[in-house]
Amino acid sequence: MRLLRKIIVKIKSQLVKFRLSRTLIVPSQTPPKSGMNREQVKNKMIQVRFWWHSIELGHGLVTPGHQGDLNYPTSAYQLVRNLKFPESFKGTSVLDIGAWDGYFSFEAEKRGANKVLAIDNFYRDRLEETATQGFEVAKEILASKVEFKKASVYDLNPETFGLFDTVFFFGVFYHLKHPLLALEKVYSVTKEMMILETHYEPYWDGKKPLAVFYEKAEVNNDPTTFWGFNEQGLLAAVRSVGFKRPEVVYRYADRIGIKAYK
Ligand SMILES: C[S@@+](CC[C@H](N)C(=O)[O-])C[C@H]1O[C@@H](n2cnc3c(N)ncnc32)[C@H](O)[C@@H]1O
Repeated sequence: MRLLRKIIVKIKSQLVKFRLSRTLIVPSQTPPKSGMNREQVKNKMIQVRFWWHSIELGHGLVTPGHQGDLNYPTSAYQLVRNLKFPESFKGTSVLDIGAWDGYFSFEAEKRGANKVLAIDNFYRDRLEETATQGFEVAKEILASKVEFKKASVYDLNPETFGLFDTVFFFGVFYHLKHPLLALEKVYSVTKEMMILETHYEPYWDGKKPLAVFYEKAEVNNDPTTFWGFNEQGLLAAVRSVGFKRPEVVYRYADRIGIKAYK
């Protein structure tokens, strides 16, 4: 049964890759909001030693994100579409947890959010040196008002951080040793909706809520990946901290997207 599920997941992933390889996303040629010319943007962009996100900076320039180009199935560009981002965040507040270079924060701002806070604790030394670099450069080029605060998801509380209409929680959950505690913190600062995107275990029978603990570097050779929930396990965990009506909005290979409401 698990083998069959594995084969189905693999075939579906290949189909997505094939579909994407046949579309061509042309980056915007429009100058960025800061008004910088192409040369200025390029010079700033290449000074950043490591980009996680592929961010359109205008003049047809895209940061060379480690995550793959705009067409890559799990790129931030594709995720925004796959996670069915609201077309408009007009007049609302957004919190982006584990924001790294800030792709999703900038996207929320572009879609009208009037307050966006990006937080990250840069849990690896490698990130500590480079992560704010990309965020700050993109922020300057895009003339963005997104605020950044170095903080952990575990630090979140409504007294210090306030409440946010929408909370993004992308690519962080499986890196946490205390996922339920983190979800409680996220719940405490959410006003309306949380969007969660994470690694999960797609190969287990879906009926029982389950989670596996990875003691070593079992997933992608990454020692910072600790937990793999199955779909039912994730929905149950999200419900258990108080979120209502969790719904799966996206699945691709071992990644899943869930929207849940306060
Ligand atoms: C795989 S990256 C995902 C980046 C981005 N959210 C995305 O989906 O493309 C994981 C990010 O989560 C951050 N992170 C890890 N543990 C965290 C924690 N306890 N609190 C806040 N951020 C954390 C890392 O520093 C890193 O930027």
